[in-house]
Amino acid sequence: MIASEELARLEREVQRALEPGGESALRVLGYGEISLVLGWPGDEPRWACKRLPPFPSDAAADHYAATLSTYLEELDRRGVRVVPTEVHRVPLDDGRLAVYCVQEVLPTEAMAVDIVRQGGAAAETLLAAIVDTALAVVDDRVGLDAQLSNWAMVDGQLVYFDVTTPLLRRADGGEMLDTAIFLASLPWLLRAPVRRFVLPGILERYHQPRTVVLDLAANLIKEQLDDQIGVVLAAAGDRLHPPLTEDEVRSDYRSDARTWALLQSVRRADRVWQQRVRRRPYPFLLPARIER
Ligand SMILES: Nc1ncnc2c1ncn2[C@@H]1O[C@H](COP(=O)(O)OP(=O)(O)OP(=O)(O)O)[C@@H](O)[C@H]1O
Ligand SMILES: [Mg+2]
Repeated sequence: MIASEELARLEREVQRALEPGGESALRVLGYGEISLVLGWPGDEPRWACKRLPPFPSDAAADHYAATLSTYLEELDRRGVRVVPTEVHRVPLDDGRLAVYCVQEVLPTEAMAVDIVRQGGAAAETLLAAIVDTALAVVDDRVGLDAQLSNWAMVDGQLVYFDVTTPLLRRADGGEMLDTAIFLASLPWLLRAPVRRFVLPGILERYHQPRTVVLDLAANLIKEQLDDQIGVVLAAAGDRLHPPLTEDEVRSDYRSDARTWALLQSVRRADRVWQQRVRRRPYPFLLPARIER
């Protein structure tokens, strides 16, 4: 797996990119809503390094690593193949830890988005396999983000790779994940209300087979693959109650896009506030505007 010295070098690049006016030599493979996916080495990436918001202590990082490993075991038990994933930590100057989930970089032609873009029978088989997996796996305990951008085909098998946010609940229904860390990129005044009123709704969607499939279908609009929505609806067949319709998919996409766009604008506003008014460095790298 990746050497810790390599990761420390990557983290130094991240720190440089965070400095005001900092030149960035980073190779970004993807901006998620939570993590930043960096390719290392930058010129010919071998590793996909998913950088989480900084953790306050080793104990917090231990808890995260344990939650992720339970999630991976549970997915394995339920028959979901996942790209091998390692958790690494890099100490920061202020005593906190940069935590990375590291995977091998998958080739472009293995990515589900690229395969579905080619269309034809391969696209149909793949979308149907995702729907079958979602319906078989998702329940109150284990959640899945079944969006197309989280899957690949490796050796003819469907594999999942978006595991940085382990969607796992304890027997009493509480989240196993310490959600505080994942709210850290929001201005602190908003963290408590978002945690209380917004997050439970967002997380619950990943635990209901119907909304997981709805999300997969709605996200095809973001990928400009609207013509494949019918394939997902047909694959679900009569297994969802009530059955999904294209109208519901489209209206769900609009409201979901609004929620995420709102969270992004809040972060942008906070960045302006921190940098121009408080004259402090802003500690997160934000994506350029996401087309929705
Ligand atoms: N192992 C990998 N190989 C190649 N590309 C990857 C790999 N992992 C992630 N990517 C790219 O980065 C994008 C985002 O990664 P991923 O889905 O894991 O995280 P995310 O969506 O940022 O998750 P979250 O929003 O939960 O933080 C992917 O859609 C893909 O384009
Ligand atoms: Mg993702």
